[in-house]
Amino acid sequence: MRQVFFGTEASTDWNRQHLEEQLGRQYHHYNIDIRDQESLNKLFRQYGTAIELVVHTAAQPSHDWAAREPITDFTVNANGTLNLLEATRQFCPKAVFIFTSTNKVYGDTPNTLPLVELERRWEVDEKHPFYSGIDESMSIDQSKHSLFGVSKVAADVLVQEYGRYFEIPTACFRGGCLTGPNHSGTALHGFLSYLMRCVCTGKPYTIYGYKGKQVRDNIHSHDLVSAFYHFYKAPKIAEVYNMGGSRYSNCSMLEAIESCQQISGKQLNWTYTETNRIGDHIWYISDTRKFQSHYPDWRQEYNLEQLLADIYNKNIERWLSQEVGQHV
Ligand SMILES: NC(=O)c1ccc[n+]([C@@H]2O[C@H](COP(=O)([O-])OP(=O)(O)OC[C@H]3O[C@@H](n4cnc5c(N)ncnc54)[C@H](O)[C@@H]3O)[C@@H](O)[C@H]2O)c1
Repeated sequence: MRQVFFGTEASTDWNRQHLEEQLGRQYHHYNIDIRDQESLNKLFRQYGTAIELVVHTAAQPSHDWAAREPITDFTVNANGTLNLLEATRQFCPKAVFIFTSTNKVYGDTPNTLPLVELERRWEVDEKHPFYSGIDESMSIDQSKHSLFGVSKVAADVLVQEYGRYFEIPTACFRGGCLTGPNHSGTALHGFLSYLMRCVCTGKPYTIYGYKGKQVRDNIHSHDLVSAFYHFYKAPKIAEVYNMGGSRYSNCSMLEAIESCQQISGKQLNWTYTETNRIGDHIWYISDTRKFQSHYPDWRQEYNLEQLLADIYNKNIERWLSQEVGQHV
């Protein structure tokens, strides 16, 4: 589906092949659309209570793409999540259910924080309680979410409800930017992975608004999966956690470009457009202290430089060979 949404460059097939080669018979891939309730139920019935953990990451993940086909976006993100929850309730109600929600559930409310313009980034006023990051107390109501944000809110509250109402151990991880070396970055989604790819291959890159000083926190998939593992080992019911790079791993667009250029030794070919993406956050850093307090043994291992270096090292050959392939 990622290929359907964003074209062949964004396909995740290469990673599926990699998993099949690496893990052999330990890995079983079922190519099922989460909108297809009947096929999902068949799979869940087949494994039943042997299913101990559901990590639900399937989505239409782009803020901007959602406005092109709101019905596709909603049926994948909201109805698809409902199908998975219902299959879990019917066939493996003791399984832990982890859902990758998003910071877009807060809509554009983060843009109302008192921001200070620094030379290379926007920052929140140091005296503000959210200086360390935005926590789960921010309202998800009455703001501009994007259609994507709305379909994820629907899914997020469904996941919470299946926890509270049916006592299934569910968790919503409201992600900042989640990425890593296996991300199939593309212009509409997967910011750091796509940025590094553009720096390395000479593809032109566009910055949309906010003077390029917009800030995101970025967490390596290794650290995210480690958080999932901690939750799985000691689950709770209907939890909500903000999860991202936090103060430990974040950057502005301009800072990210500089780091990518340093790591690769190449220069990005970029242009600036004054108009920002609708409802786009100016500054977002996750406060992960609630998760940390519930799971004190969890810690982030990758800071921004290590994350970017890992994306670079594990992809450079594949990207360059794809470029050659396209030009032959
Ligand atoms: N990457 C981020 O910065 C970020 C931030 C916040 C939340 N999230 C959430 O994390 C999850 C994973 O994001 P990602 O960045 O890995 O995106 P991704 O697009 O790489 O992964 C989503 C996967 O879901 C699959 N998929 C899409 N529609 C499907 C369908 N109908 N049935 C079955 N599979 C389907 C896609 O093919 C893709 O492999 C998503 O739920 C996304 O909303 C991501």
